[in-house]
Amino acid sequence: MNFTIHQTDTNSSARAGTLTTDHGQIETPIFMPVGTVASVKGVHQKELENDINADIILGNTYHLYLRPKTEILEGAGGLHKFMNWHRPILTDSGGYQVYSLSDNRKIKEEGVKFKSHIDGSTHFFSPEFSMEIQRKIGADIIMAFDECTPYPCEYNYARNSMHMTHRWLERCIQYLKDHPENYGFKQHFFPIVQGSTYKDLRKQSAEYIAGAGAVGNAIGGLSVGEPAEEMYEMTEVVTAILPKDKPRYLMGVGTPINILENIALGIDMFDCVMPTRNARNGMLFTAHGTINIKNKKWEDDFSPLDEMGITTVDTIYSKAYVRHLFAANEYLGKQIASIHNLGFYLWLVREARKHILAGDFAEWKQMMVRQMDKRL
Ligand code: GUN
Repeated sequence: MNFTIHQTDTNSSARAGTLTTDHGQIETPIFMPVGTVASVKGVHQKELENDINADIILGNTYHLYLRPKTEILEGAGGLHKFMNWHRPILTDSGGYQVYSLSDNRKIKEEGVKFKSHIDGSTHFFSPEFSMEIQRKIGADIIMAFDECTPYPCEYNYARNSMHMTHRWLERCIQYLKDHPENYGFKQHFFPIVQGSTYKDLRKQSAEYIAGAGAVGNAIGGLSVGEPAEEMYEMTEVVTAILPKDKPRYLMGVGTPINILENIALGIDMFDCVMPTRNARNGMLFTAHGTINIKNKKWEDDFSPLDEMGITTVDTIYSKAYVRHLFAANEYLGKQIASIHNLGFYLWLVREARKHILAGDFAEWKQMMVRQMDKRL
């Protein structure tokens, strides 16, 4: 994987770069729409490509393993072919999803036993098995199998869990060494920093992860309920240690404001269900604040959904029409809102990149944070 940094901001740690994979280039900072089960909910691949212009999307090992099942993806020749998406894909390892099952899983040194959320059947993920599935799914970037600790998390638990995540990392690396790619393109492996909200653990974990010498590194265990300030503190501690010349991915983050603040701290890649999940509940993100399109105040507002017109839906549909679709519980409302929100997130990271390159990122960020904090 080639990662070139074109510019580092003088007033913050923000960087503008280009990441090259066998399925194409990713301009950073980047937001990756979440396509958990081989689908970005409510959004066509064509819209993702042409309108939203996503450089890369994300899939989940846990969900894809349960449905459609690994063999089906292998039969199709991998996830790209299965879903007809030919740009880069990243798969999360299953670590986070399995831990979200809280009552339905048991963690041991060997791995995690869990019950399927679909039919209650029992399954077991080890670091090796997560790598095996991710080889078969065939994403361009694959993630280490880790434990994402909850918030708050007792110190001793966080420390022991971090050490286990580090031991699991060695097992992931060994498996990948012994088992090369299944398809004709390269898969790049990212390890994950843990350590909950403890600075000393975060430092220790970042040093360990940096020592693995991977082509890119991730930060996990954040955006799990901690105050934003604590998240930023942890990001800062970790980015000071992770290699500067490798991409840094902050997992599961976040709001538009969280994204800008973390770009300023040196993060290059993000993913989050928020733009699509909130869209399905009628919440629209805009450069001037958030809108609840279900509110009565939009009932007779025939102005475009978003005056900025980032995606086609922003200009061709009115607020009143989209409000009506939500009131009538029409699928189309959720689809339009999802396209709008993803288009906005991709616009935001692209604007951030432009301002990093132009040298005025810090001022622009301050202005945007103030604007986006409003409720319209
Ligand atoms: N997604 C959000 N947070 C995490 C994390 O800590 N680990 C993994 N594997 N995925 C995540």
